[in-house]
Amino acid sequence: MTDLRNDQNRGDVGGCSPMLEARQLGVLAGTHRILQDVDLTVQSGEVFGLIGPSGAGKSTLLRCLNRLTDLDRGLRVEGDVYFHDRSIYGREVDVDALRVKIGMLFQQPVVFPVSILKNVLFGMRHVSKLSRKDWPGEAEKALREATLWDEVKDRLKAPALNLSVGQQQRLCLARTLAVDPEVILMDEPTSALDPKSTQSIEDLIIELKKTRTIILVTHHLDQARRICDRVAFVSASTDGPGRIACSGQVDTVMGRTDLPELRDFIQTRSDLADVCCED
Ligand SMILES: Nc1ncnc2c1ncn2[C@@H]1O[C@H](COP(=O)(O)OP(=O)(O)OP(=O)(O)O)[C@@H](O)[C@H]1O
Ligand SMILES: [Mg+2]
Repeated sequence: MTDLRNDQNRGDVGGCSPMLEARQLGVLAGTHRILQDVDLTVQSGEVFGLIGPSGAGKSTLLRCLNRLTDLDRGLRVEGDVYFHDRSIYGREVDVDALRVKIGMLFQQPVVFPVSILKNVLFGMRHVSKLSRKDWPGEAEKALREATLWDEVKDRLKAPALNLSVGQQQRLCLARTLAVDPEVILMDEPTSALDPKSTQSIEDLIIELKKTRTIILVTHHLDQARRICDRVAFVSASTDGPGRIACSGQVDTVMGRTDLPELRDFIQTRSDLADVCCED
């Protein structure tokens, strides 16, 4: 495939050429339009947040960025996405290799019913050019990067499903990191976690941005404030397609009181936060 990697760009925060760019992106499910006219640029080394009401199209947008939408034959993608200035929708693109460079972490941890070690090695075994004898060292590196090593180093052959949900999510992150992605797409990665595990993942994201670029869907405005460099607000009017209503620095976007849909969203999230704090 075309080499989608460009090491010179790595860590070049604020450089002229975006690492990832969506241009006039749209998604249709049959005749129903889910997303329309999405323009988005993400710089290397950023944590870029996607916020917005339920059903606005945040997950769908995220899935377009590494072509996970290909797996759903009912969806049609329009426009384009550029990774290091090359279209990811070009015919010549090796989609498996693309998903190595642009990995994904889901809302619920996706853990296979095998050992912790086999879970970490899962992707690496398929894509790595390393010899077999190097795998354990690489697995350790990934588990350390995901801050899970100390908790599992003495039970690497134990079933991964015995881990707590928070540990499982870090295991999934280790599996993603093991293939050395440049970008990690995270779809509400802490929504199934307790506050302590949420804190671990947030700390990890802040650490990871030294070497990776992260695009994070979150419903938590406080989380966006804590860890995102910039955010885009995805909004959809009733039955209309999702669009990016505004984007920029978190405080600037949150301050757009001229946008009624953003005002409503912030109000709803504040009401929810109040309800959650009541007990
Ligand atoms: N494969 C599909 N076929 C048909 N409609 C779909 C498909 N995938 C998503 N949709 C629709 O697209 C819209 C956006 O869905 P999406 O999951 O992207 O929203 P979201 O912003 O991530 O919502 P939430 O915050 O609840 O996760 C929804 O109306 C959903 O029903
Ligand atoms: Mg979603």
